[in-house]
Amino acid sequence: MIAIGSDHGGFALKQEIMAHLEKRGLEYKDYGTYSEESCDYPVYGRAVAKAVAAGECERGIIICGTGIGISITANKVPGIRAALCGDCFSAKATREHNDANILALGARVTGPGLALQIVDTFLDTPFSGDERHMRRISMIEE
Ligand code: RB5
Repeated sequence: MIAIGSDHGGFALKQEIMAHLEKRGLEYKDYGTYSEESCDYPVYGRAVAKAVAAGECERGIIICGTGIGISITANKVPGIRAALCGDCFSAKATREHNDANILALGARVTGPGLALQIVDTFLDTPFSGDERHMRRISMIEE
């Protein structure tokens, strides 16, 4: 199960991503927001992060205008490694090296075509499991 959430700035891209996940046959849970009415990104970043940290969802996708505010929020939740990605190289590397469990996107920065490729790369790339990466990840929460 994938947790997905956005503020108003990410609402339209979230709709496209959910349609894409449906086409791929991937299950998701939408944590809001549910319209383009102005709202506060921490509410949605935190809701997705808590769902992932609690193990209710394996991965998360969060979107705001820049991806910055919502990723800062998600990374405050223990156990969350949210990666703001604007390219597929970063999306692949953050899965392989950081075992990132949440992908953050900036809807006002990254167009929908690239965003969907980033989503696929993030979801389809496994963690490398290399000892050095496991050591570094464990150091994050020390
Ligand atoms: C909302 O206007 C905007 O500030 C928000 O979507 C995000 O970019 C914050 O980091």
